Amino acid sequence: MKVTIYGSGYVGLVTGACLAQVGNDVLCVDIDPDKIEKLRRGESPIYEPGLSEMLQSNQAAGRLNFTLEPEEGVQHGLFQFIAVGTPPDEDGSADLQHVLAVAGTIGEHLDEYRIIVNKSTVPVGTADRVRARTREILDKRGLDLEFDVVSNPEFLKEGAAIDDFMRPDRIIIGTDNPRTTELLRALYTPFNRNRERIIAMNIRSAELTKYAANSLLATKISFMNELSNIAERLGADIEAVRNGIGSDPRIGYQFIYPGAGYGGSCFPKDVRALEHTAKENGYDAELLHAVEAVNFRQKQKLFEKISDHYNGDVKGKTFALWGLSFKPNTDDMRDASSRVLMESLWENGASVQAFDPEAHHETQRIYGERDDLRLCDTPEQTLEDADALVVITEWSQFRSPDFDLIRDKLRAPVIFDGRNLYEPETLAARGFSYHSIGRQTLTPSTL
Ligand code: UDX
Repeated sequence: MKVTIYGSGYVGLVTGACLAQVGNDVLCVDIDPDKIEKLRRGESPIYEPGLSEMLQSNQAAGRLNFTLEPEEGVQHGLFQFIAVGTPPDEDGSADLQHVLAVAGTIGEHLDEYRIIVNKSTVPVGTADRVRARTREILDKRGLDLEFDVVSNPEFLKEGAAIDDFMRPDRIIIGTDNPRTTELLRALYTPFNRNRERIIAMNIRSAELTKYAANSLLATKISFMNELSNIAERLGADIEAVRNGIGSDPRIGYQFIYPGAGYGGSCFPKDVRALEHTAKENGYDAELLHAVEAVNFRQKQKLFEKISDHYNGDVKGKTFALWGLSFKPNTDDMRDASSRVLMESLWENGASVQAFDPEAHHETQRIYGERDDLRLCDTPEQTLEDADALVVITEWSQFRSPDFDLIRDKLRAPVIFDGRNLYEPETLAARGFSYHSIGRQTLTPSTL
């Protein structure tokens, strides 16, 4: 089948590569000449495990092409996927200008039946606005052509996006035309593996499903973070509590890890956008508001712990930071907890020596060159002349470090762990003062 995808960002490229991988003829359209040039050379503009290889092999097989020409795009695919960005506006609502611009472009060049598929995460009601925009342009051209609009939200996790697309838990198709449902069903059949994954519903339900899923996951995290703060005050161990509650299948073990707060391109933006949509429709979403407020506070947690340890004076101190990306296996720094921590440290006169396996480039793009930030080639280098180690992203290579080396290199044996990677007793026995989330702070003297 022929597929066009507007937007060669994270969602667009993964969708394009995976649809080409199962044999479709995919054309990706973007307005950024540098990006298209890079992609044509077989280079991926983002880091996502497995994506580069997939882009290259499908391009070589002729099933995946890139263009700057929207007209070519409209002519190419029966399916016209919109996968452009929807950054948050000042007030938290999603900015739809790029989505609506694509809807307009499709209207300008449409000359036969097409299905417009919304893949971008967009507020409930966007499909209607896309339809209206395309229709408006067609009216201007004096044409009464038929087209359909579908909501088909993505559920891709960064770092595991290819696998999530190739082996999805569910494929949500929101339409108000049964014929369109069948056409999309045919496109997605290769991804059905051993059971029906397609869940068809009306457009608004599909749009809301995406926000509902992300907001519930964010709620689980904020709930656990809140509980971790209570546990600390009660002398309980949040990790034991996590195991205790996770064993109930109604609760489950996933997404109940306390930590330094959630970040990334989806949770913060989607919780805010749903809250905003609710408000616009006359409903005060108190729970969503609290989820966001708890997360805001949690992102400051590590700095608070550090500041408390040094009696509020971190001026002139140097901190070794392990991890910068908002989670492992990505170079994405959007809404990363590391940013809140680094900015607080800098504001209070401290310096940072950081290591991340993938996110140095992004960090440099955001912060530029500065005296109080040194990006190191190895985790060990960050420790040199540092006052303490702070772990903020749980990359697997940080899970079992050489603690003797850490102790020898640091000025003092102090670790702040924002992801509960280590065992408090073990670390205290090895001479560390160990601060983590929702557990008691152990020092060699408290053993
Ligand atoms: C998320 C959704 O999981 C995905 O389905 C959706 O399509 C896009 O948003 P992603 O943003 O890639 O994916 O990251 P995810 O793995 O969900 O993690 C989000 C944040 O939550 C990270 O900052 C992570 O560190 C944090 N997190 C996750 C926790 O703090 N605790 C947990 O138990 C799980």
